[in-house]
Amino acid sequence: MPEASAITPLQAAPALREAGAGGARPPVISVDGLQVGYGSYVLMRQVSFSVERGDIFFITGGSGCGKSTLLRVLMGFKEPQQGTVRFSGRQFWPGSDEDRLAVRRRTGVLFQQGALWSSMTLAENIAVPLRQYTSLSERDIRRQALLKLALAGLSGFEDYYPSEISGGMRKRAGLARALALDPDILFLDEPSAGLDPVSAKLLDDLIVELRNGLGTTFVIVSHELASIYAIATRIVFLDAQARTMAALGSPGALVRDPATQESAMMFLTRGQAGHAGMVDDPQSPEITGMVRVKSGADGTSLRHKDSL
Ligand SMILES: Nc1ncnc2c1ncn2[C@@H]1O[C@H](COP(=O)(O)OP(=O)(O)O)[C@@H](O)[C@H]1O
Ligand SMILES: [Mg+2]
Repeated sequence: MPEASAITPLQAAPALREAGAGGARPPVISVDGLQVGYGSYVLMRQVSFSVERGDIFFITGGSGCGKSTLLRVLMGFKEPQQGTVRFSGRQFWPGSDEDRLAVRRRTGVLFQQGALWSSMTLAENIAVPLRQYTSLSERDIRRQALLKLALAGLSGFEDYYPSEISGGMRKRAGLARALALDPDILFLDEPSAGLDPVSAKLLDDLIVELRNGLGTTFVIVSHELASIYAIATRIVFLDAQARTMAALGSPGALVRDPATQESAMMFLTRGQAGHAGMVDDPQSPEITGMVRVKSGADGTSLRHKDSL
């Protein structure tokens, strides 16, 4: 897997995390005892995790379990039913509108529908937040827009309209727009939805490059296992049935840990955990990504190949 080792997203994060955990610097995001839902309906309760600087943190779980709802709470668009959210130790929920606004100025968002304005070129799209929130001259706005498009691998496409480029390029242009105001934290909702595997891989690579180059922290809602194993430093798995989180940690460590809850293990192994018979089918390991490895005196067990 030359690509995976070239990306190496996992090396830098643990040291940073330990520094934060030791009290040197509070986590970029701390979520404690969060409960989210609509009206009196509870989607998720007792959700607690922290995101450290430089993490590529995935919020994952089945469709409809509340991933996007949790993301909206973290972005300040929706109030939680219970619990607290802090950004770098600053209160957010509960907190005042001013508290949340101060944090939101440091964040960028790429929504699931990631829509660009179809009547504007890519450069004009990126200029929108710059015009709204900065007092830069038109010349500097154009310069910033070209820089952000270049970061997203779209040099030369600044005067194209969204309809003239591919879906993968549109997503990267959306990411360039999310970067317009130099956010410390980027929230992405299902960024690779609807992309072919190669475009999805290019988007994963771009996320890692931006994290490495700019130090941006990513919080990504996604259930794309390929992306999770390739670039996630840590994940929180939301269990729709239990209505709470069922796993927290690096995907490689979770899939190797016999203590990982079954719902999370089923998700991380695409439903193949415990079905040892399946791996004897020569096709199955390729489909599932699972391989049989020696595990001490008692024989073999299943592991995801990306976790080895
Ligand atoms: N504005 C809303 N009002 C009421 N229920 C909602 C609203 N938005 C989403 N839901 C419901 O909340 C559940 C979780 O939605 P969502 O957070 O979008 O899930 P996910 O992103 O994990 O697919 C779904 O059952 C959805 O129908
Ligand atoms: Mg969603």
